[in-house]
Amino acid sequence: MKILALETSCDETSASVIEGNNVLSNIISSQIVHSQFGGVVPELASRAHLQLVVPVVNQALQTAQITLSQIDGFAVTNGPGLVGALLVGLNFIKGLALSCNKPFIGINHMEGHIYGNLLTQKNIQFPVLFLIVSGGHTMLVVMRGHLDYEIIGTTRDDAVGEAFDKTAKILGLGYPGGPIIDSLAEKGDEKFIRFPKAFYKDTHFDFSFSGLKTAVLTYKNKHEPDFISENMASICASFRFAAIDVLVAKTIRAAKKYNAKAVAVAGGVAANVLVRRMLAEQSQKNGLDYYQPKFEFCSDNAAMIGRTAQEYFARNKASGQGLNAFPSLKLVSAN
Ligand SMILES: Nc1ncnc2c1ncn2[C@@H]1O[C@H](COP(=O)(O)OP(=O)(O)OP(=O)(O)O)[C@@H](O)[C@H]1O
Ligand SMILES: [Mg+2]
Repeated sequence: MKILALETSCDETSASVIEGNNVLSNIISSQIVHSQFGGVVPELASRAHLQLVVPVVNQALQTAQITLSQIDGFAVTNGPGLVGALLVGLNFIKGLALSCNKPFIGINHMEGHIYGNLLTQKNIQFPVLFLIVSGGHTMLVVMRGHLDYEIIGTTRDDAVGEAFDKTAKILGLGYPGGPIIDSLAEKGDEKFIRFPKAFYKDTHFDFSFSGLKTAVLTYKNKHEPDFISENMASICASFRFAAIDVLVAKTIRAAKKYNAKAVAVAGGVAANVLVRRMLAEQSQKNGLDYYQPKFEFCSDNAAMIGRTAQEYFARNKASGQGLNAFPSLKLVSAN
């Protein structure tokens, strides 16, 4: 089945044509308008999606070398995300589905991140313990089969990607902060400062990252600006280690508790060099398979939405024209 998928939940306008695990195109247009504000401005995001959606969809079709009439079904993110941004994609796909007389389905963005990982795995061994880490979410999910999810832990305050972005802002490093901190951290000493690791030893699987961000702010305020800039790489390395160590420790502990066969990571922060390195090491040490997404499927993209849609279409599920966008859509199992 050839699917045309669209993702407009935040500040990436992305369209993809996908058939099975075969990504025929995956066009991602990141909106640069937000960088001058140090974060995403919702109304500007909606307007940029309106301008970008037609060229991005056309480019996805051209790259895949197919026409609209060859598409068998449509998919679109309908939450969670910015409601104005979601509505642009949702209404566009509803219109296409109606005019082509083909089914469409609304997809949960976080489920999309999961399938952004699974889309390149050959032999999936369930149960998989998924660590989903992005700009707005931090979740541990037990996946016992396709479209079957149990959320066992979430963040109680900031998401881990948000903590990277806010910490980068505190340190004057620019936006988005995750990739900047990650590459600086590679050149620093992670033992330079011992930043707090909230809930590290607790038996529950929730996280908290706002204290870590505040600890960096307090550290910065207690030292001279010259000292901070001279030691920037090591401050970043210490922050990154505190954030990632707690994620990895809890993921492995959860994998053992829930008898998982494999561990997997998904979402924008899955591009982090340290989380990939530590999860690979720790999974091997504990006899678990380990799945990581290709870099192009970590941050927001439409291929992951199309891949998720295939699982639903295969079970004869589709959405109706009355479907709405939900900013806080929860991840739930099919059925
Ligand atoms: N190498 C990296 N290390 C750490 N964080 C990173 C890295 N690369 C990207 N990020 C972070 O990933 C986040 C973006 O991920 P993503 O696009 O999935 O988030 P989102 O779609 O805005 O949020 P959500 O998926 O929760 O709705 C940003 O917070 C960014 O800083
Ligand atoms: Mg995302």
